[in-house]
Amino acid sequence: MNQATLHQLKVFEAAARHGSFTRAAEELFLTQPTVSMQIKQLTKSVGLPLFEQVGKRLYLTEAGRELFATCRQIFETIDQFQMKVADLKGLKQGQLRLAVITTAKYFIPRLLGPFCELYPGIDIALQVTNHEGILERMTSNLDDLYIMSQVPEHLDVNFQAFLENPLVVLAPMNHPLAHEKNIPIQRLAEEPFIMREPGSGTRRSIQQLLDEHQVTVKVKLELGSNEAIKQAIAGGLGISVLSRHTLMPEPAVSEVTILDVEHFPIKRDWYMVYPNGKQISIVARTYFEYLLDAATKFSVEMNAAKNVKVEESC
Ligand code: PGA
Repeated sequence: MNQATLHQLKVFEAAARHGSFTRAAEELFLTQPTVSMQIKQLTKSVGLPLFEQVGKRLYLTEAGRELFATCRQIFETIDQFQMKVADLKGLKQGQLRLAVITTAKYFIPRLLGPFCELYPGIDIALQVTNHEGILERMTSNLDDLYIMSQVPEHLDVNFQAFLENPLVVLAPMNHPLAHEKNIPIQRLAEEPFIMREPGSGTRRSIQQLLDEHQVTVKVKLELGSNEAIKQAIAGGLGISVLSRHTLMPEPAVSEVTILDVEHFPIKRDWYMVYPNGKQISIVARTYFEYLLDAATKFSVEMNAAKNVKVEESC
C-alpha cells in the first residue's frame, strides 16, 4: 500500500460509491481510461482485486469493501483537519454539503445566492431527495446538514425546527368544492387522489391523518414529484395533498387552489438535522445561523403570497 496515492484512493472511492468507472470519471472530470489506470495501479499496490464484474454490473470484492470503508475514514479525517485549520484561521471557507427534502427545494436554493454573496469562499453541494433518500444519506454520513420534515426516530440526531411546513389539499381552480368551507375529511374519499411515491414523508403524513379518520382515498395516480403532481391537478386528474411551499409564486401555466378541508393543513415543520457526534464545521454553523434568520423573513413573504399558481414541471 506504500505506493498508493491519495488521488488513487479518491478515484477508487468515487468508483465504489457509484459502482461505475464512467460515473466516477464524470464526477472527477477525468477520462474513463484514466480512472481504469488509477484503479489498476491501486489494485497492484493492494495485491488483491478490488472490483469484480458480474454481467454488466460492477461489485466490490471483500478487499474492495474494506478499502472503501478505509477511504471513508481517511477522507472524513482530512475534511475534519481542513475544517479545524479554517476554524483556526477564522475563515469562512470550504465546502458545505447540504441534503434537503423535496419540498425544501422551493426555499433553500433561493437563499443560496445571497449566502454565497456573503461568503464567497464557501462552495455548496446541494442534494434534493425524498424522506427515505435523506435517511440513507444520513446513515452513510454523506452531508454536513440535512433539512427534513420528520426527525428520524431511530437515529441519534441533533435537530432544530426553523420553519412551518403545512400540508394542504390542492385541487384545480374550477373544482366544485373550491368555494366550500370546512369540507368534511370523508369527502376526500369521493375524489380521485394523486399520491406521492412510497418512501415520501408527505405520503406518510397524509396516510397517518387519513388512517386516524378512517378515510380511504381512491389513488388514481402515484407520482414521485411535487411538480408533476401540480401539473396533474391542473390537468384535472384529481386532487392531492402537498406542502404549501410547493405553491411558491412562479410563472404559471395553469392554476390550482387550496381546499378548506377539516383537519387540514397538516401541521409540520422543517428541521435542520445532523447526526449526534458529527463535527460541525464553522461553515455549517454559519449556514445554520443564516438559515434561522432567513426563515423568519421567508415566512412573512410566504404568508403574503395568497393566490397561487402552478409552475412548470421538473
Ligand atoms: P418527501 O418529503 O419529499 O419525502 O415527501 C417532504 C416532507 O417530508 O416534507
